[in-house]
Amino acid sequence: MRVLVTGGAGFIGSAVVRHLVLEKGYEVLNVDKLTYAGTLTSVKNVETNPFYRFLQADICDGQAISAAISSFRPDRIMHLAAESHVDRSITGARDFVETNVLGTFTMLECARAYWQSLEPAGKEAFRFLHVSTDEVYGSLSEDGLFEETTPYDPSSPYSASKAASDHLAKAWTRTYGMPIVVSNCSNNYGPFHFPEKLIPLMIISALEGKPLPVYGNGVNIRDWLFVEDHARALDIIAERGRIGETYNVGGRNERRNIDVVKRICTLMDELHPAGKPHESLITYVQDRPGHDARYAIDATKLENELGWKAQENFDTGIEKTVKWYLENEWWWGPLRQNYDGSRLGLLKTVTQK
Ligand code: NAD
Ligand code: DAU
Repeated sequence: MRVLVTGGAGFIGSAVVRHLVLEKGYEVLNVDKLTYAGTLTSVKNVETNPFYRFLQADICDGQAISAAISSFRPDRIMHLAAESHVDRSITGARDFVETNVLGTFTMLECARAYWQSLEPAGKEAFRFLHVSTDEVYGSLSEDGLFEETTPYDPSSPYSASKAASDHLAKAWTRTYGMPIVVSNCSNNYGPFHFPEKLIPLMIISALEGKPLPVYGNGVNIRDWLFVEDHARALDIIAERGRIGETYNVGGRNERRNIDVVKRICTLMDELHPAGKPHESLITYVQDRPGHDARYAIDATKLENELGWKAQENFDTGIEKTVKWYLENEWWWGPLRQNYDGSRLGLLKTVTQK
């Protein structure tokens, strides 16, 4: 089995690469531009594996992508490369439109040309998995869950760009008959998570005795999934998901942001007592513009149809994650050259004269 993974130097992509190479014994070509968010240190433990190859390329570069596909001849493409941070999309959406929309378009077109050139058996077996987010569904009130049939209603430039890419993926099946499956997942957390995102930012800031910035009043809810559970789900969806279908991925672990941050503080008090009590570092700050109130996934279709189940719950997963960051400064330390922890995503205030 040969799998081309885009974005394999990122958080989730690197978990997918590690899973496919080390657990499944698949041949993997990792195609990644290595933006600020990508680092090959996340795939260090597969870099000398004979089943693993890396190509630095931009998914918007059709020539490079076509050449990579033609020479590697994948049985599957798992497309994860994206600009992924909501706050960055608020202050600069261009990279999001380019990579998430035009990059996905380029991936679909290059994959289509290759797929059409295959012999009938290869054509039948080929799959393209488009990896997306639950943020395309917008915001939930107190009740209800995102289902695969929930209408799209994205709030941020990031989620709007991902929604556009999902529509392209669906259209490529309906119009060209391409064997594409789409997955929409909730918030991931775990090792190798770039420290601009809530959980790693809070752990590292707590370790350094810096303020822990909680947006608004901290009652926004996210549904947390351990990244290795997501990687397993993506492999299963790529293998057995029905063509043209969407599968929601989530582990039924809804938490208010403030409760996530307090849990990290309690774990830090136990594992790194020097800065105790870490809760005193919590600081409420100006809210994110367009901040979605609540996300929560109904993963019944994936569980019943494809037999996937999350193995990690939030309590065990967050403890593993805090310990991992405390033990792996070699990984996150150098990334601070790309991002120093300062606030992102605030609009400039316009003062009335
Ligand atoms: P990430 O930001 O950690 O990694 C993205 C990777 O894509 C990086 O390695 C980066 O170098 C690469 N990349 C960016 N632009 C590129 C380009 N033009 N060409 C080639 N490579 C490029 O992101 P992540 O959190 O791992 O997310 C991966 C995918 O999963 C994204 O599509 C995201 O929308 C989706 N997703 C993320 C989450 C989450 O909680 N992080 C949840 C659901 C879905
Ligand atoms: O739901 C899936 C999405 O989850 C993915 O598609 C995105 O790629 C991923 O980044 C994530 O988006 P969020 O915006 O939910 O993640 P983030 O870690 O940025 O924020 C989580 C919550 O914490 C959100 O409600 C905003 C809040 N927050 C975030 C930061 C960085 C804070 O309160 N303080 C912070 O400093």
